[in-house]
Amino acid sequence: MTESNGPPATTRRRFLTGSLVAGGAMVAGGRAEAAGDPAILEVKPWAQILGEGVDARPYGTPSQFENHVVRRNVPWLTADPISSVNFTPLHELDGIITPNGLCFERHHAGIAEIEPTQYRLMINGLVEKPIVFTLEDLKRFPRENHLYFLECAANSGMEWRGAQLNGCQFTHGMVHNVMYTGVRLRHLLERAGVRTNGKWILAEGADASAMTRSIPLEKALDDCLVAFKMNGEALRPEQGYPVRLVVPGWEGNMWVKWLRRIEVGDEPWHHREETSKYTDLLADGRARRFTWVMDAKSVITNPSPQAPITHGRGHTVITGLAWSGRGTVPRVDVTLDGGKNWRQARMDGPSLPMSLHRFYFEFDWDGRPLLLQSRAHDSTGYVQPTKNELRQVRGENSIYHNNGIQTWYVNEKGAAENVEVS
Ligand code: MTE
Ligand code: CO
Repeated sequence: MTESNGPPATTRRRFLTGSLVAGGAMVAGGRAEAAGDPAILEVKPWAQILGEGVDARPYGTPSQFENHVVRRNVPWLTADPISSVNFTPLHELDGIITPNGLCFERHHAGIAEIEPTQYRLMINGLVEKPIVFTLEDLKRFPRENHLYFLECAANSGMEWRGAQLNGCQFTHGMVHNVMYTGVRLRHLLERAGVRTNGKWILAEGADASAMTRSIPLEKALDDCLVAFKMNGEALRPEQGYPVRLVVPGWEGNMWVKWLRRIEVGDEPWHHREETSKYTDLLADGRARRFTWVMDAKSVITNPSPQAPITHGRGHTVITGLAWSGRGTVPRVDVTLDGGKNWRQARMDGPSLPMSLHRFYFEFDWDGRPLLLQSRAHDSTGYVQPTKNELRQVRGENSIYHNNGIQTWYVNEKGAAENVEVS
């Protein structure tokens, strides 16, 4: 840029001097204070008294200043909390691991509290030898560790017909990403001996909803896990303690919690959760069924309606999450103008199949309104569609499997709002 394109040198200098006197100039993300900042100059109370000892928190909890970082529900979606959902606060998190206490919950009959010595898993149906495992039995099979996302098929379901919920916690927070420890379901099925006519399994939960889903045997023998640890510790009761099924890349409803029975059969069972629910009604009145895989999706988590830009114009960091049930997400694009111009975001952290991926996009914000979007490209070459592209194919009756591109409008003050661009 030539000098004539910028402000005259004297003006620029005057501007800088003025800011310094006011004590608020930002220098490369830091704060240059001429008058002195009490937060750095004063000796604070926490430096003048002894703190709590190592006996104060036998099981640690977050800082008292983080107590707003919690799962939240949407009151009008929660007629009864026993069969309802709460949402992961994605806008408060970074990296790719979801802390155990913040994983969204979806229960159809509340949380079953299972006494672990009373826990049993039965395999029956088309097997040579029906078999019952205790928790201890399960832990004697070879253990594996895998980081996988779980996304409810209904994630973003309220957004099919237009922008509705104001916050990525509510539009996208039915997803979590956890390091599971467990054993391959394949080992358990092999112990029971699947008969040659066995083609499907039925996974059944021990809660009062007896959640039951049909899963093709091929998937069951591939990467499904019977998991008992999450992020290193025992599963939380709300995530299926002591044992849940892990069905990598497939819709959350199939990840049966409080797993008590696996039946082997020669055809699917057509239970409620695969007929009246978890099917996608198309425009012509027919329904798609057995849409198991979660398609590639992404969302900008910051800024977003619950996390506005508060520092004013200047250098800012956009971040978000991307995932695909078909593999990894090697690339995410970001647009600042509602899709006219796309720029590649910077991927950071491990890139693991069927796990969340973290992306960042750093830029100098000139203070003008933004229409922020992100677009995931997965390792199969699939590109995340716009919401209108989805509606053209699937109509407007759907709830499940909405992986359309999300738009946040950011105004000149930095406040963000859920909108759609046509
Ligand atoms: N398993 C049982 N036994 N009961 C349930 O209500 N809900 C399902 C699935 N497994 C459910 C279940 C649904 S719809 C989802 S999205 C996931 O569990 C939610 O898992 P989470 O509560 O660990 O987030
Ligand atoms: Co669900």
